[in-house]
Amino acid sequence: MPSLLRVDDVTVAFGGRKALDGAGLLAERGQVTGLIGPNGAGKSTLFDVVCGLRRPQSGQVLLDGRDVTRSSPTRRARYGLARTFQRLELFGRLSVRDNLLVGAELGSGRRRAGQIADELLERLELTGVAGDVADTLPTGSARLVEVGRALAAQPALLLLDEPAAGQDSEETERFASLLRAVAAEGTAVVLVEHDMSLVMSVCDQVYVLDLGKIISSGPPDVIRRDETVLAAYLGEA
Ligand SMILES: Nc1ncnc2c1ncn2[C@@H]1O[C@H](COP(=O)(O)OP(=O)(O)OP(=O)(O)O)[C@@H](O)[C@H]1O
Ligand SMILES: [Mg+2]
Repeated sequence: MPSLLRVDDVTVAFGGRKALDGAGLLAERGQVTGLIGPNGAGKSTLFDVVCGLRRPQSGQVLLDGRDVTRSSPTRRARYGLARTFQRLELFGRLSVRDNLLVGAELGSGRRRAGQIADELLERLELTGVAGDVADTLPTGSARLVEVGRALAAQPALLLLDEPAAGQDSEETERFASLLRAVAAEGTAVVLVEHDMSLVMSVCDQVYVLDLGKIISSGPPDVIRRDETVLAAYLGEA
């Protein structure tokens, strides 16, 4: 079986500067794959390439063995891709439940949407704020709603861009078990996150991006001790 996501040798340049320079990675069903790296490394740009918001100058994106490099974001969503954004992109004036409904209708149509939304509200412990307007939520819960909207589409591949930013430590701990559970159901999760303890505790594999190139990859235990990775982060400071 091919990897659910395969990114090969992707290059994206903004003007003369390469935000991605031959980057690639694999994400497998049932696993959480981490993508880490200093600010400006190219993580969000890689997500944009995977979901179809940005066309790379070269390289390929394969979903379940299918070349989608030139497919629209809508088509990729139909193939089972969902994502969240680093800068929250909730429907701010809709309620929490309606935000989840939008995701659920994308994934399974109207008929089951209500049921899916309500199950997710419970799973994410958002039932208490189901009727609240999204804009009024603190960042931590707003991020959870965005994850909920993505999950409501019942994705095969879930891309999360800094989902724990703004969560307190208790929220982050609950979020870690949610991610493990989602992966255990067979979803391929790709996690971009600066919270290293979250990354190291939930990821099966970690890729390290620096200046647009993957400089290291492997299980958390290996990445934690990798000199190249430490140097990249020290260079940032
Ligand atoms: N639309 C754009 N136009 C020009 N340059 C861009 C654009 N988007 C990103 N860049 C540049 O590309 C590089 C990679 O940015 P990207 O946002 O992908 O990094 P990142 O790893 O997600 O960083 P962070 O951890 O801060 O979110 C940066 O140098 C950034 O300034
Ligand atoms: Mg980013």
